[in-house]
Amino acid sequence: SSERLRQILEAQPVIPVLRIERAEYAVPLARALARGGLPAVEITLRTPQALDAIRHVAADVPEAVVGAGTILNPKHFEQAVEAGATFIVSPGQTPTLFDLATQSPVPLLPGATTASEVMSAAERGYDILKFFPAEQAGGAAFLKALASPFAGIRFCPTGGISAANASTYLGLPNVVCVGGSWVAPDALVEAGAWDQITALAAEAAKLRKH
Ligand code: 3PG
Repeated sequence: SSERLRQILEAQPVIPVLRIERAEYAVPLARALARGGLPAVEITLRTPQALDAIRHVAADVPEAVVGAGTILNPKHFEQAVEAGATFIVSPGQTPTLFDLATQSPVPLLPGATTASEVMSAAERGYDILKFFPAEQAGGAAFLKALASPFAGIRFCPTGGISAANASTYLGLPNVVCVGGSWVAPDALVEAGAWDQITALAAEAAKLRKH
């Protein structure tokens, strides 16, 4: 995987996964998370406002590192890069996504949840992969079992991870960081409770590998 992506993912234990319902939430939210120690965020392309949200954060929050998530095809990839995303996250992997990523200066974090998917991504030169949906796909026990055959591969598990189980994942040798939406609950975002979000981020930022 690219050196830049490795640095981003190693720099914080938790990557907030954000589903932005209103583009105007994005800037104060990214600022609040960065203040708490989580500058890198993944804004998912699951809402019509996602690309605008990425655009605003890229333009107005220099302390943030804005990635785009839920990238399912080359069109999403190109739109996200055009909006200013500095890394690209996919729940899975396809040959067309891999081909586009080869051409792009913006790094891709592809998803893998099976041995074969890990091998396909490794053939393409990836050694950091998203593991999604982590809890449902087998959880920490499954990830732990991948460490022995896939010695050089590390994962960013996401999906069902929270303050309660993040440490279990972060304790695995093949986990580089985890991702999750728990640091930015909808109710707090809608209430504009940015200080509370900063506090949640600060708690998450303290979770370290042990
Ligand atoms: C993702 O795309 O990474 C997940 O949807 C985040 O999952 P969570 O909402 O269970 O944290």
